[in-house]
Amino acid sequence: MTKNSFPKDFLWGGALAANQVEGAYLEGGKGLTTVDLMPTGKKRWDIAIGNVESFEPMEGEFYPSHVAIDFYHRYKEDIALFAEMGFKALRVSISWARIFPNGDDQEPNEAGLKFYDDLFDELLKHGIEPVVTIAHFDVPIHLVEAYGSWRNRKLVELFETYSKTIFKRYKNKVKYWMTFNEINMLLHLPFIGAGLVFNEGDNKLQIQYQAAHHQLVASALAVKACHEIIPDAKIGCMLAAGMTYPYTCNPDDVYKAMEKDRESFFFIDVQSRGEYPGYAKRFFKDNGLTIEMEPGDEELLKNGTVDYIGFSYYGSRATSTDPEILKQISSGNVFASVENPYLEKSEWGWPIDAKGFRITANQLYDRYQKPLFVVENGLGAADVVTAEGEVIDDYRIEYLRKHIAAMGEAIQDGVEMIGYTSWGPIDIVSASTGEMKKRYGYIYVDRDNEGNGSLNRMKKKSFDWYKNVIATNGENL
Ligand code: BG6
Repeated sequence: MTKNSFPKDFLWGGALAANQVEGAYLEGGKGLTTVDLMPTGKKRWDIAIGNVESFEPMEGEFYPSHVAIDFYHRYKEDIALFAEMGFKALRVSISWARIFPNGDDQEPNEAGLKFYDDLFDELLKHGIEPVVTIAHFDVPIHLVEAYGSWRNRKLVELFETYSKTIFKRYKNKVKYWMTFNEINMLLHLPFIGAGLVFNEGDNKLQIQYQAAHHQLVASALAVKACHEIIPDAKIGCMLAAGMTYPYTCNPDDVYKAMEKDRESFFFIDVQSRGEYPGYAKRFFKDNGLTIEMEPGDEELLKNGTVDYIGFSYYGSRATSTDPEILKQISSGNVFASVENPYLEKSEWGWPIDAKGFRITANQLYDRYQKPLFVVENGLGAADVVTAEGEVIDDYRIEYLRKHIAAMGEAIQDGVEMIGYTSWGPIDIVSASTGEMKKRYGYIYVDRDNEGNGSLNRMKKKSFDWYKNVIATNGENL
C-alpha cells in the first residue's frame, strides 16, 4: 500500500445530481424537465436515445425522478450524515427548471434560488465545500418543445442567462463549478445528455454535433462569466472517461481504440485547449457534416477554456476490428464495449478495472496538463438488508479500496488531483435504468424500484470504512 500520496487539502466527498435525488418535481415553482419524462423499465432506454412519444408523464408509468429520494425535503438529515463521514466536498447540480421553470422565463424563480441558497448554507455550516454542476442531464421540457433543445442556437443565450444568474447569486458560497455533466453523453444518450428528440429522416449525427457545438460555446461563455463574476472560483468541464483498450496489438485495433477515445476527447479538447482538433475536422468532412458557427465563436472557444478536468470513471472500455470479437459487446454499458477477458463485471455488466483508473488519469493529465477532479466513481450493486437490519457491502469497499489506491498511484505518477467525490454516497435513482435497486451509497435508502418504502436512511458497513479513509487522508484503505 502506498503512503501519503494525497495532498493535505484533498477534497474527499460524494457526488449527486438534482434529478436523481431531489424529487419534489413540481414543488417550489419548478418546471418539468427531460428526466421527469423518463420512466423506469423498457421505455426509458428508448426515450434516453431520443425516441420520445409524449412531453407529459404517461398514465401507467412510474417516474422515479418525481420523488427520487426526497432530498429536497431531507437534505439537512443527509448532509449531517455526510458531515459525520467527514466529507470535505459535496458535488450537487442545480436544476435549471427550479431557477427558470420554462428555461426562457424573463425572471428567475425566487423559491428555486432560495432552495439552493439554503442547501449551500447547510453544507458550509458543516465545513463542506459545494461543487456545483450547472447542467446534469435535466433540460427544462419547454426548451425541448419550443426550440428543439440544444439543436437550436437559442439555447446558448438561455444557458448563459441561467449561468450568470446562479454565478451572481452564489458567488460567495460556491467556488467549484462544472458546466455540463458528461458532455460526451450527448453522442450516446442524446435525450439525457442534451434533450434531443429525433424525427424520422433526421440526420442524427449532424444534429448531435451541431448540438455539441452549441454546448461547447455555451460552456465557454459560462467559463468566461464565472471568471468575471467570481474571480476566485475554478470552473471545469466533465467527461465520462474510461480509456478504450485495443483488443489486440493489431494496428487496426489500436487505431480504432484511438478513434473511440477521440470521440470523447473531442469535447474536452475544445473545452480545455480552446479549438476544434484536426481529427474532428476530418471526421466532419468524411461524414458530410457541416457545423454552423457564428462569427466570433472561435474566439469565444479560445477564451473560455476550463481550469480543471472533471471526470467520471466507472471502468475501461475495449474495442476491436474483428467481427467475431465484436459479437461480444458487453451488455448494460452505456458505452458499447467488447468484453475484456481480463476483467470482472458488476451485476449490471460494467467492467471493473482499477488499474484502468490509474491509466485513464495519466492519459487525461498527459493530454491536458491541468488538474483533474474525480467527480464520480463507484460500484452500482443490489444491496441486501440482513435480518439484523444491516447492509454488509464488502464488495463496494473492495471496489473503492482498489480504485482509491489506483488514484493514489496516479498522484504519485505526477498527476495533479483536486479531489474525489464518489458517486451516490447515499442511494439514489440510477440514471441509465431508473432503478433504486442499483445502489452506490454508504447510506441505504429504504425505497424500491416501484416507489415503495419509508425513504428512511441507514448506514451501511461502507459508511465507517469511508469515514476512516477520509480521516486518514487515504492512508487507511
Ligand atoms: C454517470 C452520470 O453517467 O454515471 C450519473 O453522471 C449516473 O448521473 C452515473 O447516475 C452512474 O450511472 P447509473 O446508470 O448506474 O446511475
